Amino acid sequence: MHLTKKEEEMCNGEYGETIRKSMDILVALGDIYGAPELVDITSAQVSGVSYKTIGQAGLEYLEDLAKDDRGVATITSTLNPPGTDLDNWDKFGFPEEFSIKQNQIVDAYGKLGITKTCTCTPYLVGNVPRFGDHISWSESSAVAFVNSVIGARTNREGGPGALAAAIVGKTPLYGFHLKENRVANWIIDVETELSGADFGALGYIVGQNVGGDVPYFTLNNIPDNNDLKTLGAALASSGSVALYHIENVTPEYAHADKVNASQSLTVTKEDILQTRESLTTTDKEPDLICLGCPHASLEEIKQVANIVNGKTIKNKLWICTSISVKASADRMGYTKTIEDAGGNIVCDTCMVVAPIEDMGFEVIGVNSAKAANYVPSMCGLDVVYGDAQDLIQFE
Ligand code: F3S
Repeated sequence: MHLTKKEEEMCNGEYGETIRKSMDILVALGDIYGAPELVDITSAQVSGVSYKTIGQAGLEYLEDLAKDDRGVATITSTLNPPGTDLDNWDKFGFPEEFSIKQNQIVDAYGKLGITKTCTCTPYLVGNVPRFGDHISWSESSAVAFVNSVIGARTNREGGPGALAAAIVGKTPLYGFHLKENRVANWIIDVETELSGADFGALGYIVGQNVGGDVPYFTLNNIPDNNDLKTLGAALASSGSVALYHIENVTPEYAHADKVNASQSLTVTKEDILQTRESLTTTDKEPDLICLGCPHASLEEIKQVANIVNGKTIKNKLWICTSISVKASADRMGYTKTIEDAGGNIVCDTCMVVAPIEDMGFEVIGVNSAKAANYVPSMCGLDVVYGDAQDLIQFE
């Protein structure tokens, strides 16, 4: 890979150890994927935050990197969810030792200049690239959203690659940064109207079929942004989709070259119903309903507030979101409505990256196909899949 004089100086350690290590990662990635050069980026989203997944070794690595004052993020850079509510972990019963370690990890990222937004929906809290921007994002659901719905350009980065890119302000130029790789290779014809958790079921079906390819959807009804984040999260977790197009909806659909897509799939109402059923793993009632995967928007919190207003919820209810979105929910009175009904808005974390398997829960009710996919495999718990209004039961 061609490097400029300054980039070579970075590689040689002339700008400090953290920048040298970051360049090592970027050059290695560029060499593996055949990138001709690095490209300037405007935004980074860094995953690899939960103590559950990166452990003590990850904490020590980050604290070591953060010792070098010169090695900090140079562009807009935000952080993925950690494994606890950073401020209210004791209130919700998150384990103490875990939560202390988790706060240390987030603090280390803060020293590296990564804004402690702690959300997988950075596009809801100010990290909003422009159409065509080169960026480096490493939360798979957010990658699908930002590539597809906003039209910025990123590969599915790993956590270390996105952190290195945040610090250097560049990423290797390959893959979805190049226009020719953003064309569709699957046509997905959806024969039924969709709502709510149907979008997760659709993403789950299509992800399993297309893997890491680029699907082009024709839908019978227009999805909103909440539907699109649900769809993208499912596509990115049951497959490894980084980019999709929807006819008349997403910004690059007209350039997706659908006539040359070589494969096709028809999705029927029956497929959606069967997949919704298959995502439920038990006949038991959920002891925790956990919504907000990806992290809930203000509109989704408002919808839940309307569902529970004036009632008493039977099971525990968590709505996972960022502290920024919760601040707006507080101001709008949604938080009080939900708490009066017995539910809670839990900040920062989620049902997958938190150690919920150590918190006494057995069955989790979810309206996200990504969560339905990962809660059994990453937490060892059963799930019930459905729409929020069906999952939440009242006294
Ligand atoms: Fe976000 Fe956790 Fe789902 S990180 S996309 S809420 S698994």
